[in-house]
Amino acid sequence: MKENLDRRHFLESAGAVAAGAAAVALAGASAARADEPPANAKVRILAISGSHRKGKTTATALKIALDSAQAVSPNIETELLELVDYKLDPVQPGAPFKDDYEKLGAKITDLAVGGIIFGTPVYFSNMSSLMKTFIEHWGPYKKSFALSNKAAGVLAVAGARNGGQENASQSIMAALLGMEMICVGDGRPTAHSGATLWNNAKDDITQDETGVATAKGLGRRVAEVALRLAGKGK
Ligand SMILES: Cc1cc2nc3c(=O)[nH]c(=O)nc-3n(C[C@H](O)[C@H](O)[C@H](O)COP(=O)(O)O)c2cc1C
Repeated sequence: MKENLDRRHFLESAGAVAAGAAAVALAGASAARADEPPANAKVRILAISGSHRKGKTTATALKIALDSAQAVSPNIETELLELVDYKLDPVQPGAPFKDDYEKLGAKITDLAVGGIIFGTPVYFSNMSSLMKTFIEHWGPYKKSFALSNKAAGVLAVAGARNGGQENASQSIMAALLGMEMICVGDGRPTAHSGATLWNNAKDDITQDETGVATAKGLGRRVAEVALRLAGKGK
């Protein structure tokens, strides 16, 4: 009950959705999920890289965001997943998945996961095809709402300063909103719609001081909101 009230308070003060309806929906969702993690469990923050290149700028930027999330509280634990490590086929409506999606699906829908940071390289001003293929596996969640009420943020890395980072982020966020995820930005002082980085030093993304600050802000913000949603934050 206390947790429900904490969640209600958060939603009302954040103004994220119409408060009354949201509180009722959240209370219902919470009551339906008797298999919630124990009260002393850590809140897990996942980062998911949609880069076709393992360990490159998108992964590095996500690690920076996760380090920042970890610094928020000892009650946080983090994990980076790289989609390139999994076989993901294009989704055929109505057909069962014959690829590695179930492994990823189990990880992202785990109730211990309070927040997810989605990272994509910008390809032709939008998300990578790998990230899009991953998201297109979420059709079943339109019924189960297995991602509902997890905090979410988006990070985009491009080869140009204005290479389409915001468009790619908005495109991913449209899908996240459809999952009832609670989207956050990079928080104050910049407080924009996510982390936007510029690969301007031959794949050494740490050289983009401004972009790195947005990645840190995003990680912090996802962690803060995930903790509040779990009834463990201020
Ligand atoms: C197919 C492709 C399309 C790209 N399109 C864009 C683009 O539209 N705008 C841009 O600024 N950079 C673009 N880039 C550059 C990448 O976004 C940039 O190199 C990024 O850092 C790659 O991420 P990674 O290091 O994780 O692979 C493109 C790269 C590739 C391979």
